[in-house]
Amino acid sequence: MRSARFTLDPAFTVGTVDPRLFGSFVEHLGRCVYTGIFEPDHPSADASGLRTDVLELVRELGVTAIRYPGGNFVSGYKWEDSVGPVEERPRRLDLAWRSTETNRFGLSEYIAFLKKIGPQAEPMMAVNLGTRGVAEALELQEYANHPSGTALSDLRIAHGDKDAFGIRLWCLGNEMDGPWQTGHKTAAEYGRLAAETARAMRQIDPHLELVACGSSGQSMATFAEWEATVLQETYDLVDHISLHAYYEPLDGDIDSFLASAVDMESFIENVVATCDHVGARLKSKKKINLSFDEWNVWYMSRTDAQVSALDWPEAPRLLEDNYSVLDAVVFGSLLIALLRHADRVTVACLAQLVNVIAPIMTEPGGPAWRQTTFFPFAQASKYGRGQVLDVRVDSPTYPTGKYGDTDLLHATAVRAEDGTVTVFAVNRSRTEPLPLEVALAGLNLSRVVEHSALADADPDARNTLTDPERVTPHPVEGATLTDGTLTATLEPLSWNVIRLA
Ligand code: AHR
Repeated sequence: MRSARFTLDPAFTVGTVDPRLFGSFVEHLGRCVYTGIFEPDHPSADASGLRTDVLELVRELGVTAIRYPGGNFVSGYKWEDSVGPVEERPRRLDLAWRSTETNRFGLSEYIAFLKKIGPQAEPMMAVNLGTRGVAEALELQEYANHPSGTALSDLRIAHGDKDAFGIRLWCLGNEMDGPWQTGHKTAAEYGRLAAETARAMRQIDPHLELVACGSSGQSMATFAEWEATVLQETYDLVDHISLHAYYEPLDGDIDSFLASAVDMESFIENVVATCDHVGARLKSKKKINLSFDEWNVWYMSRTDAQVSALDWPEAPRLLEDNYSVLDAVVFGSLLIALLRHADRVTVACLAQLVNVIAPIMTEPGGPAWRQTTFFPFAQASKYGRGQVLDVRVDSPTYPTGKYGDTDLLHATAVRAEDGTVTVFAVNRSRTEPLPLEVALAGLNLSRVVEHSALADADPDARNTLTDPERVTPHPVEGATLTDGTLTATLEPLSWNVIRLA
């Protein structure tokens, strides 16, 4: 059996991980908010109606920036509906998800939720550029961020929020390239609107960080041309361009599904090339960074039928994918892809946080538990902070229908400030263990602290309400570090975390 190998050298790095690479996403969709993070009648609810059992899991997950309030939802969002006395807030039709929005949870509750998570949680607020425009974005900004002494900042204070929310990171709409988006636009239309919104928002506060909408996926017919047109209008006015990608096994092709990160990495590299092309055209020294603000495994092909059958319910069970070990291995590989591009991907949001294609599940009035995907994310967030080392693998390959011959090994490594190094690695083989050798040049490492793996004899194993701890990572014996070489064996179909000190 041929081993996979690579060399780590502190002289060859990709870049420093921005903590916001470990962001997530809360949308008013299904039960993400209602009976997810917010359930006033739940036995664990605090005085604000937040489920403390969920808050604990969110902290353990290690999420940073949390994007809100959508998603497709934001393109019909009237922020004014979501503030002030709860009993006066209107009920509205949410066109995106054919649901009724009660507005019981709104802007102030979102900020309270972030504060309860802790200082690592940062707001990432989207403005509605689908059915609304510059004026409403400015009004929201004034309400949220202006200290006092204006109509809208004083209204916030009258609503009980004395301190401004200090929202620094803003998304200029959502998936405006998608025909499904309420208020969908052409690239030229959106580019102008995004530029004018950004220009005006910066007049209030030049220090904002703004994200322009990129493509909803690399397979969109307008992909790349969309980015080029939007950036031509917005280059000097925004900091990031967004990317969204979801993966699922199609036509039963598990081998291609396991190689999903090949698509994600090419998507990132193509968007970087497009950004830099526009920058060159404009003779600009500035670099646009990437906000991969929706990514996950999502069994999306089941969703359309689910949504079109709805008759405007409140918080229906929607997109509640139950993830297997196989899904978690692909998910881990997507995390590796993001880390491998940490020089340009400076924000990323796992879509979503609770119940909706989420690492955390809840039952109304009942428990909260971790899906299989919870573990790779929590481990990457905990140990993936520092400098990403340049990893070029030499790996045996396997054939895939979609991507041709693909490496069995997908890997990255991160060096923390204290000099410890963590290797994150996926073995894509469904049947064979993969021996791994890593040459450690000049890293001054002498021991393996831990080798942990997520793998199972049954790749379809999952955590459920009745069996919430069926799948957890387990320690692996046998990894050694001798004469500057790490050797380990990666189980078939596994996500691995190998910590070296
Ligand atoms: O995350 C679910 C949905 O996926 C979001 O609302 C939308 O932006 C994307 O299409």
